[in-house]
Amino acid sequence: MLVDSFGRVATDLRVSLTDRCNLRCAYCMPPEGLDWLPKPELLTAEEIVRLVRLGVERLGITEVRYTGGEPLLRRELPEIVAHTSGLGAETSLTTNGIGLARLAGPLAEAGLHRVNVSLDTLDPEIFRRLAHRDRLPDVLAGLAAADAAGLAPVKVNAVLMRGINQHEAAPLLRYCLEHGYELRFIEQMPLDAQHGWKRQDMITAEEILAELGQEFKLVEDDPRERGSAPAELFLVDGGPARVGVIGAVTRPFCGACDRVRLTADGQVRNCLFATEESDLRGAMRGGASDDELVERWRAAVRTKRAGHGIDDPAFLQPARPMSAIGG
Ligand code: 5AD
Ligand code: SF4
Repeated sequence: MLVDSFGRVATDLRVSLTDRCNLRCAYCMPPEGLDWLPKPELLTAEEIVRLVRLGVERLGITEVRYTGGEPLLRRELPEIVAHTSGLGAETSLTTNGIGLARLAGPLAEAGLHRVNVSLDTLDPEIFRRLAHRDRLPDVLAGLAAADAAGLAPVKVNAVLMRGINQHEAAPLLRYCLEHGYELRFIEQMPLDAQHGWKRQDMITAEEILAELGQEFKLVEDDPRERGSAPAELFLVDGGPARVGVIGAVTRPFCGACDRVRLTADGQVRNCLFATEESDLRGAMRGGASDDELVERWRAAVRTKRAGHGIDDPAFLQPARPMSAIGG
C-alpha cells in the first residue's frame, strides 16, 4: 500500500494524460496558453497502462481518474481506458466536456465508469470571458451525451470567480437538478499558471452556501458519508438531490487525503501543492523493473506533508500549474 508518515493511505490515483487544453479558464491558465510539454516527455499510452496496472495490482489503488489539461485531447484515451478499466479500480474522467458528445459512447464501451465535467457558467458570453473560447454548447452537449451513455451519475465541477460568474451558483444548481447531474463547487486554489490567485478574490465555501441558501433549503448530509471525499454534501430541498461544496482552501481536508498524482510526464506528486516529485518516467525508460518502480512510488508517497500550507506565511505556489499536475 501507499502509506505516508502520518498513516494516510493513498488509494485514489489521478493521472494527467496531457498538459494541453482547448480552453483557457482564467483560474487555470493565461489566454495565450502555456509552453506545452514536448511530446517525447509525455508518457506513452503503454507507459501509462504499465504504471496504472502497478498502482492497482501492487499498491492498493482502488480509484483511477484520468485528467489533464484536457484528457479528451489524448487520442489514445479510449485505448488507455480499455486497458485499465478491467483491473478492478473504479475508472473515471475529469474533462471540460469538449468532444465528450462524440467520445462518451466509446469511453463507456471501453469500461469508463464515471465522468466529472467542468461547467462554471450557463451564459455563453460569460463562458467566453472566463474560458476565452466560445464552446458552451459543446460542453452542454457533452454532459447530455455522458448521461445518455450511462456514465451516471454525471458530476459537474464549478469554480466561481469574483466579478465574473459569482452570481451563478443558484442557476448552475437549478440546471444540474433539472438534468440529474451532481454539482460540486470548488473554491479557487492558487494553482493558476499566471500566479494571479488572491485570497480576497476567492469566493469562499461560506459565501457559496449563503448564496445557495437564498433559493434552496440546504441540510448537511450525514458527514460520515463524506469519508475521504473533500466535498461537504448538502441535501437540496429535502433531497434526494445533493450539492457539494469543496472548501479546499478555507476548510482543508488534508488530514483525510487519499490521493496521489501522476503527471503527464511521469512524475509522482504526493500532493497538488508538493514542491518535490519523483521521476517514474526516467526510471522506466532507464530499464527499471516493476519492483523498482513500486518501491520508488512508495518512497514518493511516504514523504507527503501534513497539509497544503496555503495559510503559512512561507507558502509558495507550486512551480507546476494545475493543468500540468492533473486535478
Ligand atoms: N482552483 C480550483 N479548481 C480548479 N480547477 C482547475 N484549476 C483550479 C483552481 N485553480 C478545476 C477545474 C476542474 C478540476 C480538475 O479542477 O475546473 O473541474
Ligand atoms: Fe483547460 Fe481544465 Fe485548465 Fe479550464 S481548468 S483551461 S478546462 S485544463
